[in-house]
Amino acid sequence: MTMLLLLFLLLISLNLVLSLNQEGLVLKKIKQSFDDPHEALSNWNNRDDTPCNWHGITCDSTASVYSVNLSYTKIAGPFPTLLCNLQNLSFISLSNNSINSSLPEEISACVNLQHLNLAQNFLVGPLPSSLSDLPDLRHLDLTGNNFSGDIPASLGRLPKLEVLSLVKNLFNGTIPSFLGNISTLKQLNLSDNPFTPSQIPPELGNLTHLEVLWLTRCNLVGQIPESLGMLQNLLDLDLAINSLHGPIPKSISNLSSVVQIEFYDNLLSGGLPAAMSNLKALRKWDVSKNHLNGTIQDELCGLSLESLDLFENQLEGTLPESITNSPNLYRLLLYDNRLTGELPKELGTNSPLTWLDVSKNQFSGNIPANLCAKGSLQRLYLISNLFTGQIPKSLGHCSSLNSIGMTGNRLSGEVPPAFWGLPHVYLLALAQNLFYGEISTMIQGASSLSLLLISENRFTGNIPDEIGSVENLTEFFGNDNQFTGPLPASLMKLSQLNMLDLHNNTLSGELPSRFRLLKDLNELNLANNELSGKIPTEIGSLTKLNALDLSGNLFSGNIPIELQDLELLKLNLSNNHLTGDLPPLYDKEIYRDSFLGNPGLCGDLPDFCHRDSSAAKSQVVVWLIRSIFVLTCLVFVVGVWKTFFGNGR
Ligand SMILES: *[C@@H]1O[C@H](CO)[C@@H](O)[C@H](O)[C@H]1NC(C)=O
Ligand SMILES: *[C@@H]1O[C@H](CO)[C@@H](O)[C@H](O)[C@H]1NC(C)=O
Ligand SMILES: *[C@@H]1O[C@H](CO)[C@@H](O)[C@H](O)[C@H]1NC(C)=O
Ligand SMILES: *[C@@H]1O[C@H](CO)[C@@H](O)[C@H](O)[C@H]1NC(C)=O
Ligand SMILES: *[C@@H]1O[C@H](CO)[C@@H](O)[C@H](O)[C@H]1NC(C)=O
Ligand SMILES: *[C@@H]1O[C@H](CO)[C@@H](O)[C@H](O)[C@H]1NC(C)=O
Ligand SMILES: *[C@@H]1O[C@H](CO)[C@@H](O)[C@H](O)[C@H]1NC(C)=O
Ligand SMILES: *[C@@H]1O[C@H](CO)[C@@H](O)[C@H](O)[C@H]1NC(C)=O
Ligand SMILES: *[C@@H]1O[C@H](CO)[C@@H](O)[C@H](O)[C@H]1NC(C)=O
Ligand SMILES: *[C@@H]1O[C@H](CO)[C@@H](O)[C@H](O)[C@H]1NC(C)=O
Ligand SMILES: *[C@@H]1O[C@H](CO)[C@@H](O)[C@H](O)[C@H]1NC(C)=O
Ligand SMILES: *[C@@H]1O[C@H](CO)[C@@H](O)[C@H](O)[C@H]1NC(C)=O
Repeated sequence: MTMLLLLFLLLISLNLVLSLNQEGLVLKKIKQSFDDPHEALSNWNNRDDTPCNWHGITCDSTASVYSVNLSYTKIAGPFPTLLCNLQNLSFISLSNNSINSSLPEEISACVNLQHLNLAQNFLVGPLPSSLSDLPDLRHLDLTGNNFSGDIPASLGRLPKLEVLSLVKNLFNGTIPSFLGNISTLKQLNLSDNPFTPSQIPPELGNLTHLEVLWLTRCNLVGQIPESLGMLQNLLDLDLAINSLHGPIPKSISNLSSVVQIEFYDNLLSGGLPAAMSNLKALRKWDVSKNHLNGTIQDELCGLSLESLDLFENQLEGTLPESITNSPNLYRLLLYDNRLTGELPKELGTNSPLTWLDVSKNQFSGNIPANLCAKGSLQRLYLISNLFTGQIPKSLGHCSSLNSIGMTGNRLSGEVPPAFWGLPHVYLLALAQNLFYGEISTMIQGASSLSLLLISENRFTGNIPDEIGSVENLTEFFGNDNQFTGPLPASLMKLSQLNMLDLHNNTLSGELPSRFRLLKDLNELNLANNELSGKIPTEIGSLTKLNALDLSGNLFSGNIPIELQDLELLKLNLSNNHLTGDLPPLYDKEIYRDSFLGNPGLCGDLPDFCHRDSSAAKSQVVVWLIRSIFVLTCLVFVVGVWKTFFGNGR
C-alpha cells in the first residue's frame, strides 16, 4: 500500500518536472549559475509549464521568451551565455548586479538580440569582436564596468545600433574613427575612460542622427573638428574635462537643435563663436575654465538660455543688456574674467535668477536693484570688483538668499537693516568696502548665519546684544572697523563660534566672564582695542583655543595661570598693563614677544622685571594642586561610574 502511494507521488512529481518547457529548463540552469542572495529568482520553479510568469521574464504570443530583465536583483556570477539558447530573445537587461566575468565571444549566438544592458556590473576584459554578429542590436549599454582594451573595430559594422554607452570603463585605446560609420547612432556616450590621448575623429560629423555626444574625461587632445557642426539633430554635446585646444569652431552655430553644450575645463582659446543666435534651442552653455578671450556678444545673450557659465576665462568688455531678456535664466556664472562696465540695470527683472556670480572682474557702478525681482535669488557673489553705491533696499527683502559675497568692492552707505537678518543666509561677506553705520538689531533673525565677514569697513556702534541669537555663527570677522562699547555678554551664547576676530576697533570695557560656554572657540583676536579689566580665568577652559591675541589693550592684573592649560600656537598679550609673574610655562625665550610692553610683568627673561621667585613658586604650587584635584575628581568619577554602571561591556 505505502509502496503504491510512493510510486504514485513519484510519478506526479516526475510529471511536474517534465511539464516545464525547454526554455524554462534553460533558465533553471542559468539560475543555478547565479548567487541569488535576495532570492529574486525564488518563483522560478518547476511546477510551471512555461517560464512566462517568472520574475524578470516576458514571453511573446507563442510563449517564447523574448525579454530577460533581472536589473537590480543583486544576482552575482558570470555572464549567463546559456541565455543565447533562447532563440527569440531580443532583450537582456542585467544592469546593477554583480556579473563578474568577461563578455564571451559566444554572445554572438543571441542572434535576435536588440537590447543589451549590462550597466553597473563587474565585467572585465576586452569586448568580444563577435558583437558585430548581432545584426539587430540597437541598444548596447555597458556603462560602469571594467572593460578594457580597444573598442573593437567590428562595432563599426553594426547596421542598426542607435545607442552605444561605454561610460565609466577602462577602455584605453584611442577613440576610433570607424565610430563615424555607425550611421544609425543616436547616442554615443564614451565619457570617463582612460583612453590613450586622441583627437575627436572628424568622422563623427557623419553621424547625422546623433542626438547625444558625450565625451567628458576622455583624454581628448587637438582641436574640436569643424565637422561636428553637421550634427543637425544633436541635442547634447559634452566635451568637458579634456585637453582640447584651439578655437571653438564657427560651425557650432549650425547645431540648430542643440539644447546643451558643455566645453568646460579644456584649453580652448580665441573668442566665443559668432552667430550663436541660430541656436534657438540652446538652454545650457558652459565654456568655463578655458582660455577664451574677446567679448560676450549681444546675440549670445539674446538666446533663451537657462544657464550660462563663462567663468575662469579671459573675457573682456561688458555684459550685454540683452541678457535681461532671458525669461528662463537662473544661473549666470561669470567670475574670474576681465569684464568691465556696469551690470545691466534690469538684470533679474525678467529672469528667475538663482545663482549669480560675477566675482573677480572689474565691474563697476551700482548693484542692480532688481536682482531678486522674481524672488528666487539664492547666491549673490560680487566679490573683488569695483562696485560702488549702496546695497539696494530691495535685497533686504530677498528672503531666498542663502549666500552673499560682496567683499572687496567700493560699496558704501549703510547696510539696509533687513539685510542683516535674512533667514536663510549662512554666508554674509561684506568685508573690504566702505560701509558705515551699525550692525542692525535685525540680525537676530539671521537664524542660518554661520559666517559673518565684515572686516575692513567703517562700521560703528556697539556689537548688538542680538548677535547672541545667531546660534549658528561659527566665524565672526569684524576687525578693522570702528566698533565701540563692550562686547555683549550674549556673545557667550554662541556655542558654535570658532573664530572671533574684532581686532583694530575701539571696543572698551571688560570681557564677559563666561567664556567657558564658547566651547568650540579656536581663535580669539581682540588686539588693538581699549578693553580693560582682568583677563578672565575662564579663558583657560577653552580647550580648543589655539590662538589668543589680546595685545594692544588696557588689560591689567595677573595673567591667569589657567592659560597653561591651553595648547596655544599663537599667544599675544603684549602692550597691556599686566602685572605679576609670567606663568612658568610661558617664561621662555620663544614667548618673549607675547608679553612685551607690559612694564609690570616679571619673569626670568630679559626685558622683564625680576621675578619674585617665592611668589612664582606658590603660584605654580596652586596650579599643581588644582590640576591634581581635577585629576583626582576625574579618577573618582570614573571609579563611581564603573562601580555603578559596570565596565561598559
Ligand atoms: C520563436 O518565435 C517564433 C514566432 O514568433 C516561433 O514560431 C518559435 O517557435 C519561437 N522559438 C522558440 C524556440 O520558441
Ligand atoms: C527592468 O527591470 C527594472 C527593475 O525591475 C525596471 O525598473 C525596468 O523598468 C525594467 N526594464 C524594462 C525595459 O522593462
Ligand atoms: C563571481 O561571483 C561569484 C558569486 O558571488 C563568485 O563565486 C565568484 O568567485 C566570482 N568570480 C570572480 C572572478 O570574482
Ligand atoms: C545599484 O543600485 C543601488 C540601488 O539599488 C545603488 O545604491 C548602487 O549605487 C547601484 N550600483 C551601481 C554600481 O550603480
Ligand atoms: C575595476 O577597476 C577599478 C579601478 O581600476 C578597481 O579598483 C576595481 O577593483 C576593479 N574591479 C573589478 C571587479 O575588476
Ligand atoms: C590597456 O589595458 C590593458 C589591460 O589592463 C593592458 O594590458 C594594456 O597594456 C593597456 N594598453 C594601453 C595602450 O595602455
Ligand atoms: C568605415 O567606413 C569606411 C568608408 O566607408 C571604410 O573604409 C572603413 O573600412 C569602415 N570601417 C569599419 C571598421 O568598418
Ligand atoms: C548618454 O548620455 C546622455 C547625456 O548625459 C544621457 O541622457 C543618456 O541617458 C546616456 N545614455 C546611456 C545609454 O547611458
Ligand atoms: C565621413 O567624414 C569624413 C571626415 O569628416 C569624410 O572624409 C568621409 O568621407 C565621411 N564618410 C562618409 C561615408 O560619409
Ligand atoms: C585672443 O587670443 C588669441 C590667441 O589665443 C589672440 O591671437 C587674439 O589676439 C586674442 N584676442 C583678443 C581680442 O584679445
Ligand atoms: C544650523 O547648523 C546646523 C548644522 O551645523 C544645521 O543642521 C541647521 O540646519 C542650521 N540651522 C539653520 C537655521 O540653518
Ligand atoms: C590693524 O592691525 C594690523 C595688525 O593686524 C596692524 O598692522 C595695523 O596697523 C592696524 N591698523 C590700525 C588702523 O590700527
